[in-house]
Amino acid sequence: MKIAVIGANGQLGSEIVSAFLKNGDDVIELNHDKIELEKFEIVERVLFETQPEMIVNTAAMHNLEKCEKEPIKTFMVNGIGLRNLSLVSKIMNCILVHISTDYVFDGRKKAPYLESDYPAPLNVYGNSKLSGENFICSIMQKYFIVRTSGIYGSKPCRAKGHNFVELIFKLAKEQDEIRVVDNEVLTPTYTVNLAKQILNLTMTKKFGLYHATSQGKCSWYEFAKKVLQISETKIKLSKADPSEFPAKTARPTYSVLRNYNLQNLNMDCMPDWEVALKEYLNVRDYIKKSR
Ligand SMILES: NC(=O)c1ccc[n+]([C@@H]2O[C@H](COP(=O)([O-])OP(=O)(O)OC[C@H]3O[C@@H](n4cnc5c(N)ncnc54)[C@H](OP(=O)(O)O)[C@@H]3O)[C@@H](O)[C@H]2O)c1
Repeated sequence: MKIAVIGANGQLGSEIVSAFLKNGDDVIELNHDKIELEKFEIVERVLFETQPEMIVNTAAMHNLEKCEKEPIKTFMVNGIGLRNLSLVSKIMNCILVHISTDYVFDGRKKAPYLESDYPAPLNVYGNSKLSGENFICSIMQKYFIVRTSGIYGSKPCRAKGHNFVELIFKLAKEQDEIRVVDNEVLTPTYTVNLAKQILNLTMTKKFGLYHATSQGKCSWYEFAKKVLQISETKIKLSKADPSEFPAKTARPTYSVLRNYNLQNLNMDCMPDWEVALKEYLNVRDYIKKSR
């Protein structure tokens, strides 16, 4: 199948490219230098030139603080950008796969969110991603919207410049003690697992909205603790009081998703988050040793 991956050089996009290439698909990599989501004419021209049968969009504006400062630009990319992609995909009879977020929820449920739960985003980013989802659903039939959470992978997140695991290793080198907040609960998700899950799902043609994260949950503190434990890194780790790192942007304190729709299809192949973290750290070790 001919597949265009938008945001192909990103943290998740790069793993999606690898997964589809391994599957024998013809992959066209569309990075920001080739496509601008907020400009309809560019989206239309690039997609008509490349003629994909399926588009996987991982591109977004998702640095929370930047989104708060630039709400119009954020909505242009994460909302109108998805309107543009949906309109062109519909004309081309192309399948659209879009990555969305756990931040469409406010966290008040304090139990894993299902796809049927009512979204209530707390910040500009979450609102803009929800508007993107709504454009897709109102324009298209042949779509997969995949909401995920706390992703990390071998390529750093371009919008944030790092992933959480590597940030912990960096701090362990620079400081005598690491302090991490314990008041936000999520499910860290390894991009390799997520890319495989997306590949499997897209082969079903069971279009719709899906949650896809690893299994289980933890706070950022518990995640950091597990990173240090598995890697046998010796450093003092303490729970930080939330007031030590006051969040500049409102965010859900609980954003665990349940992969309910995948489970209903008997297709949930996401591992436990601790198993996935071990896999990531093994791959990381292997890459380091082979350098
Ligand atoms: N990171 C997380 O923890 C997390 C959690 C839940 C959901 N998500 C969602 O997962 C997706 C992938 O995240 P990621 O961490 O892989 O992102 P990433 O590494 O920051 O990559 C994003 C990609 O999008 C491109 N891009 C940004 N604005 C664009 C625009 N206007 N037009 C075209 N391309 C544009 C970026 O290009 P440049 O860098 O060159 O601008 C980059 O290639 C996003 O949709 C995000 O909302 C992420």
